[in-house]
Amino acid sequence: MASYHIWTIGCQMNQADSEQLAANLERLGYQPAPEIEKADLIVLNTCVVRQSAENRVLGKLDSLKELKRLSPNTVVALAGCMVDSGVDQLKHRFPYVDLFLKPGQFNELLELAKARAPKVSDSVTASAHSPTAFVTIIEGCDNFCSYCIVPYRRGREKSHPIAELRCQVESLAERGVKEITLLGQNVDSYGHDLPEKPGLSDLLQELNSIEGLARIRFLTSHPKDMSPKLIQAVASLEKVCEHISLPVQAGDDKILQAMGRGYTAQYYRQLVEQIRQAIPTVAIATDVIVGFPGETEEQFRHTIELLSGLRFDTVHVAAYSVRPGTLAAKKLKDNISLFEKRRRLQQVEELQSQIASEINARLLGHTLEVLVEGKKKGKWYGRTRTDKLVFFENDANCLGQLVNVEVKKTSPWALQGLPRTSPISN
Ligand code: SAM
Ligand code: SF4
Ligand code: F3S
Repeated sequence: MASYHIWTIGCQMNQADSEQLAANLERLGYQPAPEIEKADLIVLNTCVVRQSAENRVLGKLDSLKELKRLSPNTVVALAGCMVDSGVDQLKHRFPYVDLFLKPGQFNELLELAKARAPKVSDSVTASAHSPTAFVTIIEGCDNFCSYCIVPYRRGREKSHPIAELRCQVESLAERGVKEITLLGQNVDSYGHDLPEKPGLSDLLQELNSIEGLARIRFLTSHPKDMSPKLIQAVASLEKVCEHISLPVQAGDDKILQAMGRGYTAQYYRQLVEQIRQAIPTVAIATDVIVGFPGETEEQFRHTIELLSGLRFDTVHVAAYSVRPGTLAAKKLKDNISLFEKRRRLQQVEELQSQIASEINARLLGHTLEVLVEGKKKGKWYGRTRTDKLVFFENDANCLGQLVNVEVKKTSPWALQGLPRTSPISN
């Protein structure tokens, strides 16, 4: 039986692409190989959002060189955001790689896999399906934030029609998927390129009626495009979870402008206020970049003030990393030292750990609905509607069930609890 191994890093878009590829390969009769060395077909689905991600890819590629020498029949494919239009250059750099595939474009690989496929096989076993799935609703990005390489690698925005997405989600729900996460670099601009110009709120409304589906999430929202209509849709549609991912990136107006984000700190504060008023139980996550070119100590302080004032549930913080070809790389000097970037990053992390521990401590004694995604070290784990990670013990098989869990212990990163009722069947 031929086997495949997909190594994935980067954002949920890449994870979604890998899930899709795995499903297609399994349809052709391939089986997952847990160990990369044993696979007949190896795919690296890569990310280059920061130099650190790119370095991980280079390390992985290096480790495959020897593997390919010892086992020349193994197919090695480099996929994802590392693959730009300069494929010839990549071929020259990595001669042991057989295929170069742009983000989400796996056709060439699937053709080759089909040609070599084991006779399709009744022995293909249906793999145990996860109760959660990603669904990409809009590809690419039109925003061109000055620091960001994504639009150069994933192209322009392209929305999938509502009818197609409804079909896709219905078939996921039929297979037992309880929660879907709608994906896009900027989901709020969903539909602007479709003939009838639907919005994300229309899509949410449509998917909310799908039987068997219990939860709908979406990410990422762009503050400049988040409409009152969308906020209302989250507030009123029962399956749409109270969880919003709203990257702010910086708390200083000059830096926001240099980043090309299209809003001010004050606008962002008001937006968060509106969201919290409409959806009182909402959890908000954000992303922040520290050490953007020219960021002064005072400008950094504005970011710290915004974070302490708004008190997010989650903050993903990254040190600015020059990305070739971006506007910032061309026009702005990367003049904050690595030491200083690390200091700022640590300051944000310490502040956020304190805030998250306080927010989570308030959940002690509450009973929360958890969708169980798996088991780790003897404990079931899953997420609440607000995306909090919860662990609990139970003898019964809870995978894919919605379980009410009473919170007994909290930390900044996760909650521990006890199941309160038998799983809620859904
Ligand atoms: N579309 C989303 C948005 O508007 O924020 C997410 C885009 S990106 C895939 C994920 C995160 O990576 C960004 O929110 C940003 O904080 C970070 N990022 C992007 N480019 C970066 C760079 N050059 N250096 C450091 N962090 C970066
Ligand atoms: Fe990158 Fe900005 Fe697009 Fe997000 S919105 S993917 S940060 S260019
Ligand atoms: Fe990375 Fe590409 Fe996502 S660069 S963050 S995998 S869109």
